[in-house]
Amino acid sequence: MSVAPLNYLLSRCSVKYVQAPGPTDEHLALILQAAMSAPDHGRERPWRFALIRGAAVMHLAELALAATERAGRPITAAKEASTRAWLEKVPLLIAVACHLDSVSTRIPEHERMLAVGASVTNMLNAAHMLGYGAYWSTGLGTYVDEVNDALGFEKPGYRCMGHVSIGTPIQTPAPVKRPDYQAFVSEWTGVGEQAIPAHAAASMPAGLTD
Ligand SMILES: Cc1cc2nc3c(=O)[nH]c(=O)nc-3n(C[C@H](O)[C@H](O)[C@H](O)COP(=O)(O)O)c2cc1C
Repeated sequence: MSVAPLNYLLSRCSVKYVQAPGPTDEHLALILQAAMSAPDHGRERPWRFALIRGAAVMHLAELALAATERAGRPITAAKEASTRAWLEKVPLLIAVACHLDSVSTRIPEHERMLAVGASVTNMLNAAHMLGYGAYWSTGLGTYVDEVNDALGFEKPGYRCMGHVSIGTPIQTPAPVKRPDYQAFVSEWTGVGEQAIPAHAAASMPAGLTD
């Protein structure tokens, strides 16, 4: 295998501030299809996506701000302003939900959610490979029923898992320094030993926090 695809994985970073143009129809199809390749115990396909494009992005922003207040969670004026300033340029949001199934319980609920998380990671990587900036957030009314009802993600069948914004980066993202994997890996040999805890096996490189 060539190294180039791996370099995409290694260089992915979140890009919050994006603008038009968003993904072309062809690119959006590839991004969504990438989600379908996520690992998925039991082939439950628990991921659900709602596309929010163009003017609908600000409609969702206004709904989320108002509904969050109505739910008894006050938002500061500064937070409202920063949310609007961020979203008014975003050409595409993908709302993400996990489909829960109270009848088919063979696969534990958390495994469904992990599969949805993996599907989002595939979308983030696909967007990055296609040259877009993408960012996963749970800030925009993710935990507010009124917002999720409006998106068609009603309880108890669905659990909203956030929103992915995708567009053209407003600024070229600076490379992000990542931690050395060794700080997170231990080895278990199986013979009368315990694995060395990862945090003891190696220390975080200077300047990095987790
Ligand atoms: C499930 C999930 C929800 C997140 N929600 C938020 C959020 O609401 N606000 C935020 O600033 N970052 C949030 N993040 C983190 C960003 O998406 C991003 O990962 C982080 O800024 C680090 O950037 P990186 O992806 O380049 O490492 C969330 C990440 C995940 C996995």
